[in-house]
Amino acid sequence: MPFEPTEYDPYDFANRRHIGPSPDEMAAMLRAVGVESLDALIDETVPGAIRQDAPLDFGPALSERELLWQLKQVARKNKVFSSMIGQGYHGTVTPPAIQRNILENPAWYTAYTPYQPEISQGRLEALLNYQTMICDLTGLDVANASLLDEATAAAEAVTMAERGSKSKARAVFVDRECHPQNIDVIRTRCEPLGIEVIVGDPAEMDAGSVFAGIFQYPGTHGGLSDFSDQIAALHEAQGLGIVIADPMALTLLKEPAAMGADIAVGSTQRFGVPMGYGGPHAAYMACRDGLKRSMPGRIVGVSVDARGNPAYRLSLQTREQHIRREKATSNVCTAQALLAVMASFYAVFHGPEGLKAIAQRIHLKAVRVSDALRAAGFETGPESFFDTLTVECGPLRGAIFDSAAASRINLRKVGKTKLGITLDETTRGETIDRLLAAFGLHDAVPADEARYRLPETLLRQSAYLTHPVFHMNRAETEMMRYMRRLSDRDLALDRAMIPLGSCTMKLNAAAEMMPISWPEFSGIHPFAPADQAEGYAEMLADLSAKLCVITGYDAMSMQPNSGAQGEYAGLLTIRRFHEANGEGHRKICLIPVNAHGTNPASAQMCGMKVVVVKCTARGDIDVEDFRAKAEAAGGDLAACMITYPSTHGVFEENVREICEITHTHGGQVYLDGANLNAMVGLAKPGEIGADVSHLNLHKTFCIPHGGGGPGMGPIGVRAHLAPHLPGHGASNGEGAVSGAPFGSASILPISWAYCLMMGGEGLTQATKVAILSANYIAARLDGAYDVLYRGRGGRVAHECIIDTRPFDKSAGVTVDDIAKRLTDNGFHAPTMSWPVAGTLMVEPTESETMAELDRFCDAMLAIRAEIKAIEDGGDRENNPLKNAPHTVADLVGEWDRPYSRETGCYPAGSFHVDKYWPPVNRVDNAYGDRNLVCTCPPLESYQEAAE
Ligand SMILES: Cc1ncc(COP(=O)(O)O)c(C=O)c1O
Repeated sequence: MPFEPTEYDPYDFANRRHIGPSPDEMAAMLRAVGVESLDALIDETVPGAIRQDAPLDFGPALSERELLWQLKQVARKNKVFSSMIGQGYHGTVTPPAIQRNILENPAWYTAYTPYQPEISQGRLEALLNYQTMICDLTGLDVANASLLDEATAAAEAVTMAERGSKSKARAVFVDRECHPQNIDVIRTRCEPLGIEVIVGDPAEMDAGSVFAGIFQYPGTHGGLSDFSDQIAALHEAQGLGIVIADPMALTLLKEPAAMGADIAVGSTQRFGVPMGYGGPHAAYMACRDGLKRSMPGRIVGVSVDARGNPAYRLSLQTREQHIRREKATSNVCTAQALLAVMASFYAVFHGPEGLKAIAQRIHLKAVRVSDALRAAGFETGPESFFDTLTVECGPLRGAIFDSAAASRINLRKVGKTKLGITLDETTRGETIDRLLAAFGLHDAVPADEARYRLPETLLRQSAYLTHPVFHMNRAETEMMRYMRRLSDRDLALDRAMIPLGSCTMKLNAAAEMMPISWPEFSGIHPFAPADQAEGYAEMLADLSAKLCVITGYDAMSMQPNSGAQGEYAGLLTIRRFHEANGEGHRKICLIPVNAHGTNPASAQMCGMKVVVVKCTARGDIDVEDFRAKAEAAGGDLAACMITYPSTHGVFEENVREICEITHTHGGQVYLDGANLNAMVGLAKPGEIGADVSHLNLHKTFCIPHGGGGPGMGPIGVRAHLAPHLPGHGASNGEGAVSGAPFGSASILPISWAYCLMMGGEGLTQATKVAILSANYIAARLDGAYDVLYRGRGGRVAHECIIDTRPFDKSAGVTVDDIAKRLTDNGFHAPTMSWPVAGTLMVEPTESETMAELDRFCDAMLAIRAEIKAIEDGGDRENNPLKNAPHTVADLVGEWDRPYSRETGCYPAGSFHVDKYWPPVNRVDNAYGDRNLVCTCPPLESYQEAAE
């Protein structure tokens, strides 16, 4: 029977994956905004002077199946060999339960940084487990909740030691056995700060001439040394001792604290996080108590909530860039939370005995290889080792290397005649047979003998991972439920819109996420030979080309692994450009007062002097102030750092003028690309006068936030800056800013997939809808709240700032109260008190449906009505806002409040059946900082609190 085919575009062809509002909803939203069409809104909002001429044209968008097929073809060009390269990156087994329940679980990966503690208790607990694990393994008192990678953590440790030491010296001693990428990044970071880097043999260190010494343990060629004497000498000279330690080795070896170390750093990659061609992985940092206030990064602490129950929160935030700006301890913002969570669960999964057993097995494999090679007459070193050997091969080096490669094993070339071999958790007996065969050893090798080649004096004496969490029943059922329990405590994007201004919490589509688990992407060592990473090369080239077209820049560096890292890399590029022109004296950086805290923090790390520029009452950069300060800086002007559209949520009309003024005085324009979600397809930073930008791929380009990382912050530059981009030792370059040449390469397929599935048209549509959604919210809240800044025609860009300051006076209601009350409504609060104290910055993104936008607006309007009730004479202390968030304990406990349980617990916007219940009441921030606890508290303390 003939039939009429039903008209249906599979949803992914219709580009409905990322665009939340349906066409009908969009029409309704445009009506509410009071504009005829989406294009008319964009014309009213985005100044004509900055619009790009030609639309983005990347050819047709791919469907999900087409994308995954194409990506698989590219992935297959990567060759996954057994890596024995070592050098800080190791094969590891990700327990499948962790892969499924955390890495591939949106409840974990779509969460935001836990700045709102009441809705983040799950990930805060996992991160506290991580900190406890690090404190235990290193023996030090305080650990942070991750840094970007081992190399940057090592560099951070050096600058932290400089702040913390009493020595007047301006040099740091670096153990020559540090991994080369660690030495490179330390050099990069020290140069602008005028710190001399002395690389040498620790036995010859002159402790009196340095403020700190940094040592690798085990060394890059496998050596094991006790640095106690060196550290004692450093202490004698008022300096500090830093140890870069492999946490797996620490399960068997004397811990850094027992050597007297003040700071320990390292990578937790081999705790279940794949190598991923360099990242992402969590670096750790721990220090003794006296240094905690100079520690970079986020630190989870334990406080109490309004009922006196223990509750987790981020502590000591006054150290951080968002508060201290150019005086911050570091510029770290996005770190590696998700990977730290994975590593912490790896430790929970295995417990101390399990970790020790894994380390012993790794060691035994190394012993077996060493014995076999020695028996065959090869000279191998070092005498004692954990997992790494160096073998003298003489003229046979090339042949052995090739023969191993023919057996799909990668070795490390050391000097001209040696090979490095590093064993790991994944190395199988059969792989060792193939390895030995490459050395020409085909006969049976000595059987495993359980005998340490670790020096007696370095054997670990102290216990670790003693907390009950590392001793729970490890049946997978129990583990799965623990992971589920923690994620259920949190509010991530998988439950509700997260309207965080400047953070662009948009959809991280499932199809985009899939390739990160493919071994062809995850199983590659960052220093694997180029012919094994051709798939990566193809992906990197095409993604870079697309990002260049989108931004109008000529070259991209994929090295920086966060936005702030991108800022640093971009400013360093500017610095090198000036130096190459004989203008190294240019040091002044103009930064408007509304800039993100990472901007001034990055500038000071580059040795620049920050001069703050005012904003006008309308929220624009004050051009006259800018001009005056640029003139005053004159020949010393290095750069300006601006954000576009501005952090006030408007497209400033004068951006070209700002760029021109900067250029007139010989400065370079750094345009912070965090807000690129408002520009893609409409305007290009490189065309409006900027010279360099970072792109937060974890915002605009769909890499999930992971509860505080991973991220990627590649930088785009115009041609004149391209020769000064960061190089990397892996390709004989200099000035590395990250441990790996392409930063956290294994998450780049997410952004590439987004571009390919959207096509140029889809990307542009996303931008337009993001702007429509923000204007829709501004329109719906109009009259109830003031939108602080608007651009031409009263329009906002992709976000808007809502002024909540008047309510403090009228009703005693603070921005904090509103943020916490939104939790009752089932929302994560918008960005609070930045860039203007006492306000909320709302960024809905294009991914949210009109229904979700309405739910948020209804919640905000209901909150306004509650404020009005207080203004009209209601109780200023005992009201739903002050008591927010409400918990189950509130609902079922005694009720002495002048409003109903229903009003308290089920306000407008909250779901009845699917209601989100925060596990704790409002968390006391001041208490947490006064009584700092940064490791898992003993279980009794929970019992006591409950009693
Ligand atoms: C405007 C702006 N610049 C820079 C950054 C820093 O980016 P990241 O957190 O990736 O380091 C952010 C992060 O929120 C931001 O909003």
